Amino acid sequence: MTAMHDSAPDAPVPVPLRLVSSEKLVPSQNLVASENPVSSGDVDHSGNGSSAEQAVPVGGDEFRRALAVHAAGVVVVTARPEDVPVGLTATSFSSVSLEPPLVSFYVAQSSATWPSLRLADHFAVNVLAGDQADIAARFAKKNIDRFAHPTRWGDGPQGVPLLHDVSAHLICRPHHTVEVGDHVLVVGLVTATSVSSAGRPLIYHKGRFGRFLPY
Ligand SMILES: Cc1cc2nc3c(=O)[nH]c(=O)nc-3n(C[C@H](O)[C@H](O)[C@H](O)COP(=O)(O)O)c2cc1C
Repeated sequence: MTAMHDSAPDAPVPVPLRLVSSEKLVPSQNLVASENPVSSGDVDHSGNGSSAEQAVPVGGDEFRRALAVHAAGVVVVTARPEDVPVGLTATSFSSVSLEPPLVSFYVAQSSATWPSLRLADHFAVNVLAGDQADIAARFAKKNIDRFAHPTRWGDGPQGVPLLHDVSAHLICRPHHTVEVGDHVLVVGLVTATSVSSAGRPLIYHKGRFGRFLPY
């Protein structure tokens, strides 16, 4: 997906998220059927045979139950479009590419924050530390000022709001957005970082926050 949608590598001008090209992805039945046939050696967990035509999406509850066991780090994505700080908690953060340095997250199309966030010409990924479950909960809560006390934050490069006491900040310039299902994939070019190695990460698993326990 990344290579297919990369914008020109020498694009010189930072662009707000709204100006980055946006494409809708549709499932490609042909690709599945012609390039990934289920061979006799493959395992078919469906119990319904091996044809791609018979594949149906799982129900929402089943899908959520499966995803819930995948432990994820927690970030808060922040920005200051039109001089108003905005931010939301996300576990969909991921690295995308080393050269160029790209990261991504997915935001729900239903998000009330997204219409503002998409206007920003820079955003920050704040990687939360193990003792910041309250911050994660706060930036997922609706109808509050997420940046009001007790949230501790300050201005970063390009005026991007940076949360205090996090494990790392990644300052990003919007690189690409793609509508995928009911979410928008946001890819950012990382232009600066700061890392605090002291703390352990905040983890989200089965609907609960926790801390990482190394072997
Ligand atoms: C642990 C956790 C992880 C979340 N991850 C995401 C995510 O990756 N993408 C997303 O759009 N929302 C995610 N959310 C939900 C948003 O933080 C929350 O729904 C949103 O901020 C609601 O406010 P909004 O409508 O202003 O966006 C997550 C919430 C929590 C508690």
